[in-house]
Amino acid sequence: MFEKLSTAPPDPILGLTEAFKRDANPRKINLSVGVYQDASGKTPVLASVKAAEQRLLESEATKNYLSIEGLATYGAAVRELLFDREHEVVRSGRAATAQTPGGTGALRVAGELVRAIRPTAKVWLSDPTWPNHGGIFTAAGLEVATYPYYDAATQGLAIESLLSALEKAAAGDVVLLHACCHNPTGVDPTPEQWQRIAQTIERRGLLPLVDFAYQGFGDGLSEDAAGLRALCRPGGELLVCSSFSKNFGLYNERVGALTIVAESAAAAETALGHAKLRIRTNYSNPPAHGGAVVASVLADPTLRAQWEAEVATMRGRINAMRRLFVETLAAKGVKRDFSFLERQRGMFSFSGLTPQQVAALREQHALYIVGSGRINVAGMTEANMGPLCEAIAAVL
Ligand code: LMR
Repeated sequence: MFEKLSTAPPDPILGLTEAFKRDANPRKINLSVGVYQDASGKTPVLASVKAAEQRLLESEATKNYLSIEGLATYGAAVRELLFDREHEVVRSGRAATAQTPGGTGALRVAGELVRAIRPTAKVWLSDPTWPNHGGIFTAAGLEVATYPYYDAATQGLAIESLLSALEKAAAGDVVLLHACCHNPTGVDPTPEQWQRIAQTIERRGLLPLVDFAYQGFGDGLSEDAAGLRALCRPGGELLVCSSFSKNFGLYNERVGALTIVAESAAAAETALGHAKLRIRTNYSNPPAHGGAVVASVLADPTLRAQWEAEVATMRGRINAMRRLFVETLAAKGVKRDFSFLERQRGMFSFSGLTPQQVAALREQHALYIVGSGRINVAGMTEANMGPLCEAIAAVL
């Protein structure tokens, strides 16, 4: 069966970390995968997470299966973080949540749910987007299309082309939007642009699917949810795939959620039942630990305050690195204006480096960034800033 197989291509993001690990160069720098590092280059376990884990270790009484949709307390905490406790979507009960293995698990379940209910729906992805998006929805059996997103000339959002593309989507198609900290560009719609996108989606009868993986890394936990909340319409349907990999640093615990917003509480419950059918044949029910940690932290006022402060620290360090990156590039003699990097939000900088320059960075300087020119700012430190900016200056 496997004898004549040709080699599978490496993953465009995780494959780079595999190559990085094999690289013997002692000066190597990995700015590919979106993982936060502190000033000393470590990816720490948050103190709020450690405290919750200690409590769980003492109080956990069973390793019995969770239900197919996961912990109810986790689902409620997710919805309140996404929409706010007082939001109509939460108070009406017309949102239902399934705990999933990471945001990727949520996206796959969402894809399979759409495929089961509306098999002819196309999923519209931003150009560019996270490289895994296309693979996930294709694997779920859906057709994928793209809408323009990034305007290289202005280093901003191509809002008019984006809206014209949505005008061409068929009613019932799915539009995937990044709630904040767009991956890979770091360019997000303004509040006015969110309104225009929301109005077009509503008028065209499209289904918004919001990928929310970086809540708190842009401008703040609540501020980063403004786009999602702008998409909420009375009785309007919506899917949200969220993740706690980044803002809780729970990468390897695989903690995510699919939240289904339906016209009514009864419709949400029914839709969740169909999502549960997809889950059962995929991974049966979710892993418990990460969800229990998140639910414990969010339910405890002291731990929650500690976590919010830790998110603010991560956000502040990323923004400080953005500024230092732009300053250091200039100090190393780079003439091109990179000040637009300071306007981008979240973990990533979309540098504008070409695939040839990205390859040269890796081959000649052992600096690993994603082929699109995406650089993980959250992996920059004061210690690696000099060498990395020198390498970029050299390939430019
Ligand atoms: C990224 O874009 O680097 C992260 O979302 C990690 C991943 O799974 O690709």
